[in-house]
Order: sequence, then structure tokens, then C-alpha cells
Amino acid sequence: MPLTWIQVERFRCLEKVELELDPHFNLFVGANASGKTSLLEALFFLGRGRSFRSRRLETLIQQGAKDFLVVGKTEAAGAVTTLGVRGSRLGTEVRIAGRPAQSAAELAEHFPPQVIDPEVHKLLEEGPGRRRRFLDWGVFHVERAFLPTWQRYHKALRQRNAALKQELSDEAVGVWDGELAEAGEALSAQRLAYLERLSEPLGAMGRRLLGMDVALVYHRGWPDERGLRESLARDVERDRRYRATQHGPHRADAVVRAGGQAAKDRVSRGQQKLLAAGLTLAQLQVQEMERPGRSALLLDDPAAELDATSLGRLLECVRELPVQLLVTSLRAEVPGLPAAGRLFHVERGRIAVAPS
Ligand SMILES: Nc1ncnc2c1ncn2[C@@H]1O[C@H](COP(=O)(O)OP(=O)(O)OP(=O)(O)O)[C@@H](O)[C@H]1O
Ligand SMILES: [Mg+2]
Repeated sequence: MPLTWIQVERFRCLEKVELELDPHFNLFVGANASGKTSLLEALFFLGRGRSFRSRRLETLIQQGAKDFLVVGKTEAAGAVTTLGVRGSRLGTEVRIAGRPAQSAAELAEHFPPQVIDPEVHKLLEEGPGRRRRFLDWGVFHVERAFLPTWQRYHKALRQRNAALKQELSDEAVGVWDGELAEAGEALSAQRLAYLERLSEPLGAMGRRLLGMDVALVYHRGWPDERGLRESLARDVERDRRYRATQHGPHRADAVVRAGGQAAKDRVSRGQQKLLAAGLTLAQLQVQEMERPGRSALLLDDPAAELDATSLGRLLECVRELPVQLLVTSLRAEVPGLPAAGRLFHVERGRIAVAPS
């Protein structure tokens, strides 16, 4: 469901922005520090309830203000839904169609954005946490049972870790093993099933973008030869030393392989960007197949780090996706993309539609 209208207030340098959007392709053009990434960040927050740049909510609130507000309208078959998020030092408040929502996950039912920004290479470069989040977002969209399983697992994990921290008896720690193992095995199976679905679109993206075979290899977070329950029981002494559970899908990773080798340390920065962008686009394809007509791609300064050939390949893949595009650029023309449905000028935190 494309976003047709947005309002952003007191979000980073954006004091007050209100815009009608094109359902297909919007281009935001402006100089450095004009507020382009901030706008995409606000839209990402509207769908995901978090930023792609910062974990700290207070950095998003405009200097001197107490809170920020992002509101958007999505439209499907003539039906309009209003989504709203407010962020303050107390946390995030979410409203959907005028009613308070339980969690940010509900936003994504209406508006599930994906982002490719100049930092996208971190997906390969950084530790496994980022890749687990990437994976879990994908699973969330194809498997209804995922969210309750994830919540069940993390609840049991918190309890077990609390018992370890308090140095309670083996019995008191082990009380959680059954629940943790059951939810953990289920979570792992859901992730694997998703990776299977992702593998074909990902392979195709890899060949088109890099001319390489690209794959994600899942490491589930405990030894291959044993079940999770047995692993927890066997290594409880190690958990005691660390005062935290060391086995389980919270320690999983999805390692990116390109051309038959681990990609992380072998490919150039530009190739890293293409790889990470390919992962994102493949995920977007699966997401669109599952729930068509909802997704949006936020593409921040696509030309950064890429030569003309690489950029051309990336944008060719982007163009073919049947999703709403919101693109930022330093220049009004992005070679490889058609003329924008709507062109906006961004200048010192203000955004105005360019006359057509
Ligand atoms: N909390 C905040 N309050 C006010 N201004 C902020 C806040 N956080 C960041 N800014 C400012 O917002 C401005 C715009 O940043 P943004 O990253 O959106 O620029 P940009 O247009 O994407 O630039 P570039 O082309 O360099 O990527 C910057 O000058 C930054 O210092
Ligand atoms: Mg930027």
C-alpha cells in the first residue's frame, strides 16, 4: 500500500514537512546536510518503529524539542489508513487508524519499508546482530507464527539469563530449558524455511549485480550434532561463567557467501554495497510475493560508492520491482531511473515539490 501523504515534525532537521507522494516514484534532491536522509529515516520509522541510523531515540528528536511526530496515509483499493508514531524520551507511541497499537510490528502490516543507504555494507561487515535482524524481518513477513515464537523464545531466554545472573541452582536455571529449546528449535526452523525461499531470488540478484553466485549460509547458534535442549544442559557450566546463555538462535548468524567464499573479507567496498543491496532487494521480492502491493523501497543516495556500471545494474534491478520508490540524490537526474512521478527539492530542512 503506497504512502500517499506524509507529515513529519521535529524530526532531526525537519521542523515541519507535509507532502503528497507519488504512488510509484518520488525523488528528493538536495545538497549535503539538507535533510534527505532524515526524511527517509522518518519514513522508515513510520513502518518499522526504529531508525536505520541510530538506536537512540533522542538523537532523532530535533534539538530543543521534546518529541517528534511522523504521520502517513497509506491507500489500498480506495481505503485509506492513517499511521502515526511519536517519539519522546519516554519511548515510542504508535497509532493506527486513530487507535493506539500494541507494538511497532503492527505498523509493518500496513507499511513495510526496506532501505538501501550508503551504510548498507554494514550488513556484511558488522557482527551477526544486524544479519539476524535482517533475517527475522524477512521471516516475519512470510510466517505468521514467527512473532509469537520469537517472543516466547526471548521471554524464556530473559528468565534463564536472570537465573544465571543470580547464580541460582542448576535446577532453577534448567527449569527454562524445555521452553527455551522448544521455541528455539521452532524459531530456527522458521528461519531456515525462509532462507530456502530467499535463496533463488538472492542467487538471481547476485548473478545480475555481481556476476557471482551469492548465498546465505545459516549457523543456528548451537552445535550441529545435538539438539538445543541437550546443548543447554551439557554446557551449563560455561553459561554460569558468562552469566548468560551461550547456545541458541540468539547467537545465530547468516554468513554471506559470494563466488563460493565468505564475502566479508574478500570483496571490495563497492561490491559489499552491491551484495548488501542484492540481499535487500531479494528480501523485498519475497515480501512482495507474500503480500503484494504494500512494500516501499527507500533508496538513499544510490550513486555513493558505485561506479557507473554497478549503479546501472543496481538501478535496473530496482526499476523492475513493483514497489513504491522513495529516492534521494544530490542531483535532479539519476541516470538509470525514469523521470520521477514527483520531484522534491530539499533545502535546510524544508521540502517543496518542484513545478512539473
Ligand atoms: N536531532 C537533530 N536536530 C536538529 N538537526 C539535526 C539533528 N540530527 C541531525 N541534524 C542535522 O540534520 C542535517 C541534515 O542531515 P541529513 O543526514 O538528513 O542530510 P542529507 O541531506 O542526507 O545530507 P548528505 O547529502 O550529506 O547525506 C544535518 O546538518 C544534521 O546535523
Ligand atoms: Mg544523506
